[in-house]
Amino acid sequence: MPETTGADPTPKQSHLDAIGAQVLTCTKCALHRTRTLGVPGVGPATARLMAIGEAPGEREDKEGRPFVGAAGRLLTELLEGVGLSRQDIFITNVIKSRPPGNRDPLPEEVLACSDYLDAQIAVIQPEVILLLGRHALQRLLPNAPGISRCHGQLIRADERTYMPCYHPAAALYQASLLPALRADFEKLRMHLGTQGERPAAPGVAGAFEGAKREAEQLGLF
Ligand code: URA
Repeated sequence: MPETTGADPTPKQSHLDAIGAQVLTCTKCALHRTRTLGVPGVGPATARLMAIGEAPGEREDKEGRPFVGAAGRLLTELLEGVGLSRQDIFITNVIKSRPPGNRDPLPEEVLACSDYLDAQIAVIQPEVILLLGRHALQRLLPNAPGISRCHGQLIRADERTYMPCYHPAAALYQASLLPALRADFEKLRMHLGTQGERPAAPGVAGAFEGAKREAEQLGLF
């Protein structure tokens, strides 16, 4: 069952949980035949920030939770570095079932999941939607320039505020992207007015090294 924040959920939380329950039994695309668990997303309906990645990977597919692998550890450390706790934000993906072999989502899979993602955004009404990587960018801001040109910008569209940034997994592949990723999270901190360590804090750099080692050991990247 999707996670809830307590025994007595608000109507908003109940709505969000109901969307999650639909994802768990969804058969709208072929991925339901190969997935272990659907991964609706986690976090409170009151979240000020929503982070959207690409698709569940191997560990997410087994645990039913998003961003629990190496990229998730880096994401957690980046969030904490700017004063945001994972528990306070809603984390999800463009598609809710793992594509076999972690291949890119197909257009029909993105389409099949689009109602779930749109409904989650409509319920939560986050102040900022963090678009993690090019698949989230293409899904929510199809007319935006590529991620390398628009990352770190606060973009207003359809009465919502988006911030595209590099996907944490991309920074695990390509360490040269990490400074830009950290700078974008710093902009997020300034926009949301959260307190946090400076981005150059050793904790973040350490987490990056740890996540990279874990990724290599798991053969994820
Ligand atoms: N884990 C997720 O849940 N999503 C991604 O995009 C990558 C890793």
